[in-house]
Amino acid sequence: MKALILAGGAGTRLRPITHTSAKQLVPVANKPILFYGIEAMVAAGITDIGVIVGETRAEVMAAVGDGSRWGARVTYIPQDQPLGLAHCVLIAADFLGDDDFVMYLGDNLLEQDLAAFVKAFEEARRSSEPPAAQILLKQVPDPHRFGIAELDGAGNVVRLVEKPADPPTDLALVGVYLFDRTINEAVRAIEPSGRGELEITDAIQWLVDEGHRVRCELLSGWWIDTGKLTPLLEANRLLLEVIESRIDGDVDDASTVDGRVVVEAGAVVRNSTLRGPLVIGAGARITDSFIGPFSAIGDGCEVVHSEIEHSVIMERSRIIEIPRLEDSLIGREAEITRTGRRPRALRLMIGDHCQIDTE
Ligand code: G1P
Repeated sequence: MKALILAGGAGTRLRPITHTSAKQLVPVANKPILFYGIEAMVAAGITDIGVIVGETRAEVMAAVGDGSRWGARVTYIPQDQPLGLAHCVLIAADFLGDDDFVMYLGDNLLEQDLAAFVKAFEEARRSSEPPAAQILLKQVPDPHRFGIAELDGAGNVVRLVEKPADPPTDLALVGVYLFDRTINEAVRAIEPSGRGELEITDAIQWLVDEGHRVRCELLSGWWIDTGKLTPLLEANRLLLEVIESRIDGDVDDASTVDGRVVVEAGAVVRNSTLRGPLVIGAGARITDSFIGPFSAIGDGCEVVHSEIEHSVIMERSRIIEIPRLEDSLIGREAEITRTGRRPRALRLMIGDHCQIDTE
């Protein structure tokens, strides 16, 4: 079994962060989103991993390396244009060969570990009616935003539609798919969709139409497609809720620490309140400040006389004299300062290297 992780998309809905950085490398709970996917594959026993990279390939390759850090072997497959998820399978043909594989969308985050999902497919493949694919479904309140599946009475997949205006069910296709080699034929047989992409949803429909069995499983835990600010902050919140407290940095006696809090090595906290769940990255400096629940402060950040809650602050940014920063995503090496008395609260999504002085 191999894995194909998709880390090519442009991330237009997370601009301006994605003008300068790959959406799959935006950190949640201080770890790049993509790393959770790689770890999930390795935990499911899959170490032969192909990663589809696009415009941001240099950054993704620098961050992931050869995969040896996870005991995996990573092969990079460049996609010159974002021509769809099925197109990724098409260009990965040499890497995939005739092997079964998991396809994982690099911006999806799941609570559930995937080992059981992979094992179920492997077992079904040994049965008398082996499936050619297995999909993971989750009920969602906004099915028009996803690929949607329709099942028959026996729970078999009978129809799939990509982002239907009038969704037949609320069962969304989660961005984790299992395939056998038949999918290679399917991606060659389908035509581009209305949005000009080769849709994996159409390729799976082709499997159904050709009489192949497509298994499905319902996901019980949470699942987040992190492509936008609100779901990204939600993923950050859900992951921080389960971190294990650990203080490796230097927190002085004038500071208080409540709840689940991680302070990484080299971080210095002075005269501040840390009310978890939250994480303070390596080498960060927090002085005379309040860091509230669901905050992830990146490595090397500096926070002085400020209050931050429910926000992701990326590496080496500086937040100085800000009465309140909430529900925000701040890029790398940004600087938010205040020299005057206003405003009271800020909600920001700002890119790398920005400088904001609120006066
Ligand atoms: C893609 C798939 C869609 C699936 C979704 C999951 O959508 O086309 O079927 O439900 O991922 O995240 P996209 O993110 O490309 O809009």
